[in-house]
Amino acid sequence: MHDISQYQDFFIDYLKKQNIHKEPVNLYEPIEYILGLGGKRIRPVLTLMAAEVFDTDYATALPAAMAVEVFHNFSLVHDDIMDDAPLRRGQVTVHEKWNLNTGILSGDAMLILAYQYFEQYEPNVFRNLAKLFSKTALEVCEGQQWDVDFETRKDVTIPEYLKMIEYKTAVLVAAAMKMGAIVAKTSEKEADLIYDFGLNLGLAFQLQDDYLDAFGDPETFGKQVGGDIIENKKTYLYLKALEFSSKEKASELEQLFTLQLEDNSEKIETAKAIFNESGASKATQEAIEMYTFKAFETLEKMEINSEKKDVLRTFGENLMGRKV
Ligand code: IPE
Ligand code: IPE
Ligand code: MG
Ligand code: MG
Ligand code: MG
Repeated sequence: MHDISQYQDFFIDYLKKQNIHKEPVNLYEPIEYILGLGGKRIRPVLTLMAAEVFDTDYATALPAAMAVEVFHNFSLVHDDIMDDAPLRRGQVTVHEKWNLNTGILSGDAMLILAYQYFEQYEPNVFRNLAKLFSKTALEVCEGQQWDVDFETRKDVTIPEYLKMIEYKTAVLVAAAMKMGAIVAKTSEKEADLIYDFGLNLGLAFQLQDDYLDAFGDPETFGKQVGGDIIENKKTYLYLKALEFSSKEKASELEQLFTLQLEDNSEKIETAKAIFNESGASKATQEAIEMYTFKAFETLEKMEINSEKKDVLRTFGENLMGRKV
């Protein structure tokens, strides 16, 4: 096994060798742009790591890791259109730097590019990867639609929210890991266990994303802080705040989350104050820990040595402490 930063380096070296720059420039330049903006590279690192957890050289998993990262970046380009987001990884978003049509078509092309990376595998592995990927990609679309539907709904429940984040985010983290297992041709049982590990880690990851969206440091976060509040997103912070608040406070918050304003600074400050005072912020932190520990429990069921479990556990612990 290698450590996390080594997997990152292996992936970035591979990414740099890809020849993405082609014509028409207005199709491929945005793809190069978004892939070059960096990001944490969590999903490809997990794919490489999972391959080595199951005793296969990480290099075998590089095309699969690339597929996951290209798909993830595609989903971000379209997500930023849907969320009307101005900033991504500290830079201007694709649809704002170019235009809406560019964001749509370059995004579409990335989805196809992602699939092409599976062609590098033999038929059986290809089939298993493509099957998992198709199922996952469709679930991501379902999660994204719920996320948008919830913006204008007043009766979203915590179980509905959890299903939504499972689909929009956690399944891709889980699939990233299972792809490493598929490439390594491990048993179905172990592949399903690592999927489960990734799923719970992914839930914790999205809860943390929601938390940072409100409370992240604008200097380092890389996205517009308060973006979820502006867009009336029904996050865990919001739903727990409703649950914990007095009737009056709850209806104030509900009312706040129907507004669409030009200047959002007051709305953001009011919402954040309610999140903190109600105990919703604390509850979100607790949920992040809970799902991370749930992921660690799955590790105990796996038939891998303790060194490998330690690497996976360290990854989960690092994610919990992240600030971006
Ligand atoms: C952002 O993902 C979208 C979510 C699912 C929360 P990341 O936080 O992994 O984004 P990058 O790739 O590191 O920028
Ligand atoms: C994104 O969720 C999930 C997908 C891109 C599929 P968010 O909308 O919370 O992600 P960020 O915060 O923009 O990165
Ligand atoms: Mg978004
Ligand atoms: Mg979104
Ligand atoms: Mg977010």
